[in-house]
Amino acid sequence: MMRLILLGPPGAGKGTQAGLLKKRYSIPQVSTGDILRQAVAEGTPLGIQARSYMGKGVLVPDEVVIRIVRERLKKPDCEKGYILDGFPRTVVQAQAFEAMDEPLDHALSLEVQEEELVRRLTGRRICETCGALFHIDFRLPRDSGICDQCGGRLSQRDDDREETVRRRLEVYRAETASLMDHYARRGILWRVEGQGTVQEVFRRILEVLEGAEARRSGRRSS
Ligand code: AP5
Repeated sequence: MMRLILLGPPGAGKGTQAGLLKKRYSIPQVSTGDILRQAVAEGTPLGIQARSYMGKGVLVPDEVVIRIVRERLKKPDCEKGYILDGFPRTVVQAQAFEAMDEPLDHALSLEVQEEELVRRLTGRRICETCGALFHIDFRLPRDSGICDQCGGRLSQRDDDREETVRRRLEVYRAETASLMDHYARRGILWRVEGQGTVQEVFRRILEVLEGAEARRSGRRSS
């Protein structure tokens, strides 16, 4: 059983690393951003409500995302743990999550410099069919504009245009960055250098997690 949170600014690589961790530990990735984008694409009442916030690069109201996460964590695939990607994002969300009585094991913070974040986000491309991530400089598809995995069309997220990216980074600093202290006080925050290749970052994460898990099982057996 492992319950993990991936923290870090937009573009830090949370989605990319969550995808690798999900395979490594066979636990689901719970991404509030993905759930909201799917609702927007399907035009559901949730999607209609979320769309205006997401398009501007600001946070969707706490009560909406808290409800989504509460429902998602009840699904049977979360019984052996999960990776939260993009939640919590405010202290109110963190407190609501604690009230769900789902004790967290580790909070990993991916640390990346701002200009690199802007470069990653403005160059990101996503498969419209399977959601696979690409980048115009760092992770090119074999055929331009086409997903390597399923042949779907690649496109840019509406909120990945530079002006909206800058706004998202401001919102992160104002509303989410203080969560680091919240988890540091609980003794479960691990800061990981998020620059370097995807595989280099993944190796650092595994090193940190394996050390933290060894200490956790040491405490349980003593
Ligand atoms: P969300 O989808 O959660 O976006 P985000 O946090 O802004 O994070 P991103 O998905 O943009 O970045 P990431 O860190 O996952 O990076 P990625 O791996 O994709 O949220 C979107 C919106 O939904 C919010 O603005 C808000 O409106 C709403 N929302 C969601 N959750 C909410 C909540 N809890 N409360 C309220 N509102 C909420 O990588 C980025 C790019 O970099 C990719 O192209 C990738 O290929 C590339 N890359 C990754 N790692 C590397 C590397 N090591 N080197 C080079 N390139 C890399």
